[in-house]
Amino acid sequence: MIPEQTIAEILERVDLVKLVGRQVKLRKAGAGFMGLCPFHDEKSPSFSVSPVRRTYHCFGCGAHGDAVRFLMEQHGRSFPEAVRELAAEVGVMVPEERPEPPARRAERERQRSEAERLFAAQDAVTTYYTDTLFSPAGEPAQRYLTGRGFTPDTARAFRLGYADGDAARFQRFLATTDVALADLVALGLLLVPDTGPDPSAPLQGHYLRFRRRLMCPVVDVRGQVTGYSGRVLDAKAKAAKYVNSPETPVFTKGDQLYGAFTARSTARRAGRVILCEGNLDVVALWQAGFPGTVAAMGTALTTRQVRLVKRLSEQVICVMDGDAAGAKAAFASLLPFLEEGIQPRAVLLTGGHDPDSYVREHGADAFRTLLAAARPLLDLYIEREAAARPADALGRAEGLRALAPALRLLQDPLTRDLYRQQVASTLGVPLDFVDRAIQEAAPAPAPTPRAPAPPPAFVPAPPPDFLAAPPPDEPPPMWEDDEAGAFMDLSDGPDAPPAAPPVKPMPKLPRYERELAEYIADFPDLAVDLVRREGHKYLTHEGLADFLVRLCREVESDAVLDEDRLLREFPDAQVVAFWRERQARPSGLDRTHARRALHDAVLRLEHGHWKRQRKDILRRLGSTPGQELSSELAEVNRRLTLITRRLSTPTTQTPAEGAN
Ligand code: UTP
Ligand code: MN
Repeated sequence: MIPEQTIAEILERVDLVKLVGRQVKLRKAGAGFMGLCPFHDEKSPSFSVSPVRRTYHCFGCGAHGDAVRFLMEQHGRSFPEAVRELAAEVGVMVPEERPEPPARRAERERQRSEAERLFAAQDAVTTYYTDTLFSPAGEPAQRYLTGRGFTPDTARAFRLGYADGDAARFQRFLATTDVALADLVALGLLLVPDTGPDPSAPLQGHYLRFRRRLMCPVVDVRGQVTGYSGRVLDAKAKAAKYVNSPETPVFTKGDQLYGAFTARSTARRAGRVILCEGNLDVVALWQAGFPGTVAAMGTALTTRQVRLVKRLSEQVICVMDGDAAGAKAAFASLLPFLEEGIQPRAVLLTGGHDPDSYVREHGADAFRTLLAAARPLLDLYIEREAAARPADALGRAEGLRALAPALRLLQDPLTRDLYRQQVASTLGVPLDFVDRAIQEAAPAPAPTPRAPAPPPAFVPAPPPDFLAAPPPDEPPPMWEDDEAGAFMDLSDGPDAPPAAPPVKPMPKLPRYERELAEYIADFPDLAVDLVRREGHKYLTHEGLADFLVRLCREVESDAVLDEDRLLREFPDAQVVAFWRERQARPSGLDRTHARRALHDAVLRLEHGHWKRQRKDILRRLGSTPGQELSSELAEVNRRLTLITRRLSTPTTQTPAEGAN
């Protein structure tokens, strides 16, 4: 763990002006320094560094933080990495980590090494596809890209490639790597023949999943290739337009956004993220100067994808194709967005355009104008639902019921009131009718333990494209990965709990440990806060600490947050039972207050830890007084004072205050 006071000490010693100055040209201005903000594009300086407060602040984009934050945001360090780096620089000792039990470590390494191996394999394959694209064998794909106006630079930025479907060539490439055939099968890149492997054939008779396709690797925010989306080149081919990687240990379509990696650094600069439908729309918008763009790859937007979008920016603009399917997809994403506290804006293209064709026909400026005029998706939804029905009593009742679930999700009271009114006036009904519909839409009280989330209200039917006949150029198993799976993941709730032997209850946990679990049960992403501050190391229950670390890793993985799966897989039944019980008792705090309360709880745990240390030292001092113990005591006292001071600063409210 890195104790709070070590962090405080590091931050006190670090020269923020020097640190930032390595990257940003700073000029003295008043008590501080100003320069061009490294977090967004600007021509006149609005980025200030205060040596007194030891923070930076950008008046343009709102970027704000201390030295640790700066390293995290600018250089992609994790919290402990940033702290250790600074510690080394200013000569502060950071205590070493508590060693992990060997069994836990071994399991973690095993999982990590499998994922790492699979990522490494896909990285090599991606390079092979790119090399193919730029070689004579890639001629069809080159021609295709040129025909659509994509430049080689753009292709490289997205690591686009070509799968020529030549098994012998693929085999020769494999021979130059240490990639195992079995891993390619696990990744769905190779398909096992029905008749079993044939050692004499190239690739031992395995089929290539992707043949004669333009390969769009799906790259996560860390730059790892998680899977592929392969587009057919010949518009008249009967094959499915896209073939995607199947579900693999590193790929679940509903957990990924196409373009996340390229969008990552730029979405923040642009102050918004664009969500569109097609992979190639992402590529086209990038080339047209709209880099912060991602696509959901043909799935109905999942909550996990919403969370990924949210991490790029909370200002979301959905740009949807100008066809019925486009509108449908946009409206289907409304509830998942609202559930995560995001109010997206939307542009519905007209005239059958998609972003790619729109930009090509009308240019980037016209598209920029469209974006600037984007309206709240909820407004469009209200208008559409109102227009879809006759303005009589029956039609209005239906309209009210259709809109209520969205209204119910609005968290900000002011926004909610404004929309209540908007619905009342659009439908021409009194306000209290709207309220009644909202109340009716409230879910039935949850049984204990907390029931799994209800299925999303809108599950759009797959667009007709996906219903095309099975492609003759692909062996049958390929068909499986296509859309059915993507839509299925919306309905596959957690398994019913098996009749298990009664689980021994958790030992009584310290109050703050219990509370902290409650906040994280409410807002699982807070596990990241806990672990970044290394607060999990103060927990008395190792199993709980382990669970929270896994939860954190899951949230951070940019992939799934499938808490139920995590619970199903977690070996410690005591912790699982405890967690489900926590889930059933919401803290009642909103996220901001829960987060503060969590920080507070961590400080208090830390406080408890040092108080126990003090007691121990005092006891030992009683029997063997000595200089060394005395100075240890002084150190512990100093830490305690620092923590007490932080506990009483206004940013760390107690849960009771937070609830008000
Ligand atoms: P689109 O049909 O809009 O594709 O499907 P697109 O990417 O815009 O392609 P172009 O512009 O016609 O070349 C939107 C997304 O749905 C998924 C893909 O991720 C695609 O980008 N999709 C589509 C599939 O997964 N399978 C399909 O058969 C079709
Ligand atoms: Mn398109």
